[in-house]
Formats: sequence, C-alpha cells, structure tokens
Amino acid sequence: MHFERPRRLRRSNALREMVREHRVNLAGLIQPLFISETLVGRAAVASMPGIDQLSLEAAIDEAARLSKLGIHGVLLFGLPAHKDAFASSAADPEGIIQRAIRGIKQRCPEMLVLTDLCHCEYTDHGHCGILDERGDVDNDATLELLARTAVSYARAGADVIAPSDMMDGRIAVIRQALDAAGFVSLALMSYAVKYASAFYGPFRDAAQSAPSFGDRRSYQMDAGNVREALREARIDAEEGADILIVKPALAYLDVVRAIVEVSELPVAVYNVSGEYAMVKAASAQGWIDEERIVDEMFTSFARAGASMIISYFAASYLERQQR
Ligand code: PBG
Repeated sequence: MHFERPRRLRRSNALREMVREHRVNLAGLIQPLFISETLVGRAAVASMPGIDQLSLEAAIDEAARLSKLGIHGVLLFGLPAHKDAFASSAADPEGIIQRAIRGIKQRCPEMLVLTDLCHCEYTDHGHCGILDERGDVDNDATLELLARTAVSYARAGADVIAPSDMMDGRIAVIRQALDAAGFVSLALMSYAVKYASAFYGPFRDAAQSAPSFGDRRSYQMDAGNVREALREARIDAEEGADILIVKPALAYLDVVRAIVEVSELPVAVYNVSGEYAMVKAASAQGWIDEERIVDEMFTSFARAGASMIISYFAASYLERQQR
C-alpha cells in the first residue's frame, strides 16, 4: 500500500511571513518612562541596563524621539521630590506627572500619554495607598485619593489613565469622578489582573517605590489563581474599564488567553521590569541573543491574544522592525 506522508511546509522568508498566524500590533506598543522631579538630565537604573530615570526636560525629549520612531504611547511613572504618608504630592497640578503630561502633549500632540495611577511612588512608606492604624492599606480612604489624582491627570491632558493599585471599587469611583469633572471620553486602562510578583523587583529601584515594610501580597493576586483573574477582569469591565492589563506577562500568558476568550475588552500585557532585567543580564553574558529573544517574547504576547504590549523593549523592538 502506498503511504502518503503528510508534508511539512518548507518556508522561504516570504512564505513564512505569508502564512504567519499572529504578529505584533506595532501600533499597540507602549514604552514606560520614569520621570524624576529632582533629577537633572538622566540617571541609569542599575538593574535595568538601557533604562534611565529622566528629568522633565529629558522625558519630553525622549517622548519626541519615540514619537518620531513611531511609538504611539508612553506610560508615565513619577518620582516626586516630596513623599509623605498621604501621597499629597500626587494630585498637585504642578506635580511632576502633571507637568510631564502637559510638556509631552505640547511637544508631540499625537503621542498618547498614559499615566500609571498608583500612590506607591508618593507615599513615604511605599505602599499603594493610605494606611490605617494597623498598617494595612485603607481601601476607601485610598479610593478618594485615586479619584483626586486621576482628575488632576485628566486636567493636565492625559489620554488614558491606568490605575495599578488594586483597591476594590476603584474603577467605578475613578470613572464617576472623571465623568463628574467632564472627562467622559477619557479612557481607563485597568491593571485588572496584577499578580504579587518577584518580577517587579527592578521596577522598585527605577521608581523608588519599594515598600519600607511588608509586601503587597494582601492586595495583589496569587500566582496560583486563574479563575480569580477572570473575576477581576469581569468586575473591572462592569465598573467601566475600557482596556484590561495582565501583569506580569511571560509567566502569565495562560491568564492572558483565558481573559481574551471571555472578555470583549482589548487586553494589554505588561512585560515587566524583571522580565527585562533577565533578558538584559543573560544577553550581556553572551548566553542568549537579545533581539531574537525579544522578538519571540513579543510574538508570544500577540499569540496569547494581547493587542497592546507595555514593555521596556517597546522602542528598541519597533526600531528593529523598521530596519
Ligand atoms: C505600581 C506599579 C508597579 C509596576 C507598575 N505599576 C509596581 C508594583 O505593582 O509593585 C511594576 C512594573 C514593572 O515591574 O515593570 N505603581
């Protein structure tokens, strides 16, 4: 009997591109920026080679460079001069983020300015909100603060607000506050699914936001849970989120896929600081090829179903695609 052996497609470069099922949405790449109120120029982040903390002026220049490159969005993190127990500098109309939003929008109006909304960079204890007398984050007191800071970012001209604090009910409260202030069409990109993760290690250097005691495990998700992620995503969608973020990315792609399958909202992955640092460290040793690794990682995010990628590699990846 004649046995017809199934043939595997032999690909030329052109054919490989032609039959490819998933590719990275280049318009959905978002580059995070760390903007310091006290810095002059730039300061390297030791655990994130290639990433700098930026002064206000340097951040505006960097946004202009990214815009020219074709990056459509920057995600801003602020390093304020003043920290206290109540994060009082966060909602200051002359605060570092508010000035950065205005400066970037003025210099490159087409750049989408997304602002991370969390208070861990603004509190002297480094937790994501206001503490109660037991040292736990007070959910409802923090909600008020979130709403106030969100409105101040909106007034400064932010395009998208990305709450990353994980307080219960925050999306509804922030949406209401924005609507009441007249910002009915401003988008909310919720860090709906944020795991308590060691992958955020280098970020806490970069953003100077390490908690001075304890950790964030009581209010961030446990790595063992995926049904809980679906619940978080559903609740945030019901409360008015426009876009959902899953964070970290690499170790949680099953979660991305699970959410993409049940939610109608666009999903973003956050390829976080520890994921960046691992690639940089190994490639500096010559143990892996950074470019190929990043291409493969980004492809896996697209394959999992993410239409947006927040990554410290966003700009270098895009630059490479255009070569
Ligand atoms: C909270 C926030 C964090 C990150 C983004 N927003 C830190 C945390 O949740 O503890 C981490 C991002 C990264 O590691 O790159 N403001």
